[in-house]
Amino acid sequence: MVVLKSVSEVRAWRRRVRADDASVGLVPTMGAFHQGHLSLIRRAVADCDVTAVSLFVNPTQFGRGEDLESYPQDLERDVELASREGVDVLFAPPTANMYAEGYATWVEVERLTTGLCGRFRAGHFRGVTTIVLKLLNVVQPDRAYFGEKDYQQLAVIRRMVQDLDLECEIVGMPTIREPDGLAMSSRNAYLSPEQRRAALVLPRSLTKARQLIESGQRSAGKVLRAVKSRFAAEPLASLQYAEIVDPDTLEPVERCDRDVVIAAACLVGDTRLIDNQMVKLRERA
Ligand code: PAF
Repeated sequence: MVVLKSVSEVRAWRRRVRADDASVGLVPTMGAFHQGHLSLIRRAVADCDVTAVSLFVNPTQFGRGEDLESYPQDLERDVELASREGVDVLFAPPTANMYAEGYATWVEVERLTTGLCGRFRAGHFRGVTTIVLKLLNVVQPDRAYFGEKDYQQLAVIRRMVQDLDLECEIVGMPTIREPDGLAMSSRNAYLSPEQRRAALVLPRSLTKARQLIESGQRSAGKVLRAVKSRFAAEPLASLQYAEIVDPDTLEPVERCDRDVVIAAACLVGDTRLIDNQMVKLRERA
């Protein structure tokens, strides 16, 4: 595996790969790899002739007061893990290489970015779509891999790729969970043991919500009340939002009578956690 630091090095590498007619997979990450990242990497390595992983803690997707400064980083460990998985290129540019002096261009996906996390993280998705477009442009992958844990991010990226006619297949991969159900996230490392226990209210309340819908509850309001009452009983966690939305438009639904996504975000201490569960009703009908 080679570690490349600049856009020009990646472009030169991409030209060589094109000459070989090899298919290229890209796994965009912010590093601090956990099993969730590794599942994306394994899938890319299995699917594509050549796999690139980008590792860049993108400052433009963090808001003021968020955890940009403390975001977990361990480049040496990430390099070791990626190379063990068979990754060909790790692209780890310095910030100045992605956002040069005078940088002034942004990509904004409308509508899908206004609800859910967009309500609480102004400018976040603009930062995500801008960096993802830049990465797709530099690496020019045939496929790019993202986790379904960030369900809204995945939907927004799919929309951008479709709207801008990008020639890249976006592959969404299932959320990887700890044995007790907590979705894997680099931010879990911030949690104290007490907070780690309290964080379970997030996956458990969403599982309860899914079960209610699967057993016939059609009122989104009633399902969400059940989520809120679980949070009310957990003093270390505060619910930021819980919503039941259409899987494609991300618009809230009132009746759970088709496929829906239940999505939520909460704060455990200063740590913001998100999770979601898809409920498939169409397949059952
Ligand atoms: O999901 C992430 O880790 C980031 O949002 C991404 C897609 C790598 C863009 O910085």
